[in-house]
Amino acid sequence: MGWLLDHAGVTASEVTSVAYNFNLDLYRHGVLSSFPHLFRGATRRRALPRANSFRKVYRRATERLATLAGAFPEAHVVGVEHHRAHGIYAFAASGYESAAVLVVDSLGETTTTSIARAQLEGDGIRYEPVARISDPASLGYAYGAVTEHLGWRRGDEEGTVMALAALGDPVRFRTLFRRAIHLTENGFTLDPTLFPLRVVSSRYPRLSPAFIAATCPPRTDGSTPSSTHADLAAALQERTEQVMVHLARRARDLTGESLLCVGGGVAMNCLSIGAIVRDSVFEEVSVPLAPGDAGTAAGAALAHYADTTGTLASGTARRCYLGPA
Ligand SMILES: [Fe+2]
Repeated sequence: MGWLLDHAGVTASEVTSVAYNFNLDLYRHGVLSSFPHLFRGATRRRALPRANSFRKVYRRATERLATLAGAFPEAHVVGVEHHRAHGIYAFAASGYESAAVLVVDSLGETTTTSIARAQLEGDGIRYEPVARISDPASLGYAYGAVTEHLGWRRGDEEGTVMALAALGDPVRFRTLFRRAIHLTENGFTLDPTLFPLRVVSSRYPRLSPAFIAATCPPRTDGSTPSSTHADLAAALQERTEQVMVHLARRARDLTGESLLCVGGGVAMNCLSIGAIVRDSVFEEVSVPLAPGDAGTAAGAALAHYADTTGTLASGTARRCYLGPA
């Protein structure tokens, strides 16, 4: 932050706006959407802890906003919807004039997947969400859960699982993943008997005993991955690619655009992006240099600047090194 202020030649008290990459008002839906889970056998026990964990995340984010307000005493601190930050950054980085935008991550407030149509309009940008999928249907959650089960860090080392998939055969666990991640006309759902409802606490594992019984025990000892681990990675990867292609086709149908931008942490799954390219429903596919949450810093700033000035700030298209060397 110190470097950035020096680089811009301003002091903290001269900053008039600070954009944060989550909109706190939307966490309320996380609490409210927990209650219907009380009436379903597979999710009943986690419904209230889920509601509570959305309250906890809201509190944590409120504290962060207060810290920012303290650091920038004259600034208006604004929360930007998480998927909007991902999407606007992905579009701005592409250099396109008009495109479909697909954002897939673990969770942004309560949204896990979104599709939008983005267009340059004069100096500004028109960003229109056309579809969204909410938690608990989350591809990032599922991929992260299996990554952790295989002995790597969730939210960080998913790429290692993607690489391990090359050594495995998806056939063995294909049927399991078809059931665990179910394709629907509009997207997908997760089977709560295999991927239990999300509760943000280490006391609530992200895979069920049924999933573990059908696959293998968690790899916790750092031992060399076995063929079972590779087969599990391969089946997860195969299903992920199928879901991503399905979502990309939906983005094409809903927007009619011929160019696609993909953002969100799952966009780092480059094999899925390759599958979308090979599917050929889009002429070209663009993934920004920081599709994960790192890019939402720029995305939130771009979104808020566009909202208040009507201008899409320049300097993001096809560039990556926006900070100090
Ligand atoms: Fe995200």
